[in-house]
Amino acid sequence: MTYNLLKGKKGIIFGALDHKSIAWKTAEKAHEEGAVFTLTNTPTALRFGEINELAEKTNSIVIPADATNIEDLENLVTKSMELLGGKVDFILHSIGMSINVRKKRVYNDLRYDFFAKTLDISALSFHKLLQVCHKHDAINEWGSVVALSYIAAQRVLYGYNDMADAKALLESIGRSFGYIYGRDKKIRVNTISQSPTMTTAGSGVKGIDGLLDFTERMSPLGNATAEECADFTCVMFSDLTRKVTMQNIFHDGGFSNMGMSLKAMMQYNRGLDNPIDPETIDD
Ligand SMILES: NC(=O)c1ccc[n+]([C@@H]2O[C@H](COP(=O)([O-])OP(=O)(O)OC[C@H]3O[C@@H](n4cnc5c(N)ncnc54)[C@H](O)[C@@H]3O)[C@@H](O)[C@H]2O)c1
Repeated sequence: MTYNLLKGKKGIIFGALDHKSIAWKTAEKAHEEGAVFTLTNTPTALRFGEINELAEKTNSIVIPADATNIEDLENLVTKSMELLGGKVDFILHSIGMSINVRKKRVYNDLRYDFFAKTLDISALSFHKLLQVCHKHDAINEWGSVVALSYIAAQRVLYGYNDMADAKALLESIGRSFGYIYGRDKKIRVNTISQSPTMTTAGSGVKGIDGLLDFTERMSPLGNATAEECADFTCVMFSDLTRKVTMQNIFHDGGFSNMGMSLKAMMQYNRGLDNPIDPETIDD
């Protein structure tokens, strides 16, 4: 069902790599809801991903940009305004990457050059984007900017590694810039903390299969899918949420407020028949 929630709105969507990407689903949904937008990703992702198919489907233009590079961001923002015929109303930051995770380096044996890259790509890029938009006055009054986060920003989840620190910084940037942008331009900035989701980035998380099962059992409403995240993101882009800003909003089926559920307890109890000796556990 569509509601014309974004009719007449213009935007920029970062991070659609393939059909599974949360940004891909959001672009499809925003298109259905009447928005026009540009799509962007790194030149490498554009080569290996499938973004042209999405661009065709949503009548969008793709503009390459490495979100850590200010020149790329300036080019993206000014070109988007030219192509869309004015300032934008919404932006999705759907970007995350850790070389430490990729190279399977554990949290107490990180490489700091990789760590700096994690923070730059997954968190500072959000500040760079907001700063470039602010300087170019690129977002309309009552516009909405959303970045995607994860609960490892607040709680330790084994294996999420340096991405947890990046998400904590990302959420903090959302709050700090939310104040500036709200005060100066009546623009809202929020982060959405999404359930674990089986995407390319998601499948890089250590133990993702077990994690998905655990959060599904723990969440009274079950895990939120990428499509459901797209729905919620479009609501956040719409005029129905004009006074929501500087928030980190959990979109996780209730997981963030759970301690133990019946379903998880039953599965855990079953496992006690075959207990694991904690001394034998190795990272
Ligand atoms: N999948 C999950 O379990 C999950 C859960 C919560 C939050 N998130 C967050 O959702 C967002 C989207 O991830 P996804 O799950 O859709 O995976 P995805 O792999 O489809 O998307 C990640 C995107 O980041 C892009 N990217 C990486 N480096 C970049 C750079 N330098 N400049 C611009 N773009 C760059 C990639 O090309 C890719 O398109 C990320 O912020 C991720 O951390 C994911």
